Amino acid sequence: MRVKFIAIAAHGKGRQIGLNGGLPWNLPAEYQHYKDTVRDQYVLVGRKNFELHGSDIEGSMPLVLSRGSLEKSTAPVFDSMSAVVDYADTMAIDKIYVIGGGEIYNLSLPYLSEFLCSVVDYEGPADTYFPEYSFYDWEMVHQEIHDHWSLYHMRKRPDF
Ligand SMILES: NC(=O)c1ccc[n+]([C@@H]2O[C@H](COP(=O)([O-])OP(=O)(O)OC[C@H]3O[C@@H](n4cnc5c(N)ncnc54)[C@H](OP(=O)(O)O)[C@@H]3O)[C@@H](O)[C@H]2O)c1
Repeated sequence: MRVKFIAIAAHGKGRQIGLNGGLPWNLPAEYQHYKDTVRDQYVLVGRKNFELHGSDIEGSMPLVLSRGSLEKSTAPVFDSMSAVVDYADTMAIDKIYVIGGGEIYNLSLPYLSEFLCSVVDYEGPADTYFPEYSFYDWEMVHQEIHDHWSLYHMRKRPDF
């Protein structure tokens, strides 16, 4: 596998990521960081996230995970992570940002080599969560503290 998978996600103190199809918070600066990171990049996206928020990733090149097909888009659709890896190899894609939602973060977790994790000062309700993971599996590359959120750029430790 040559392609590198990098997750980009914002989660609350209890790994909350979604509520009623949207984000549980409104943090324009964090959202801007997300948009700036994925612009012009390949992004791996779940069918639900793509249908809900496809317009947020205008300028990116979406690769959609679904067991079905898309009605309103010509974006390529894949039914497994291995099909995405094969496609990336064929197309010589070296980097794909995983942009969720919850099911797709869960599916891609073993494939990740980097994680751009925004931890939001949020302890409220959610209906979608980032999968459980251990900070010990990751080494810190860079971190930034912002108002109400912190950004952690982490790299998977080689032995995990
Ligand atoms: N905070 C954040 O950083 C962040 C980021 C992204 C999204 N979100 C939030 O997350 C929520 C959406 O997440 P979600 O978990 O409900 O949905 P999702 O992960 O966006 O999409 C789920 C869909 O992915 C497809 N899928 C799942 N497993 C698959 C597999 N093994 N093979 C092929 N396709 C597969 C299925 O599509 P089909 O049904 O078509 O088969 C499934 O219905 C929203 O609330 C959104 O706002 C938050």
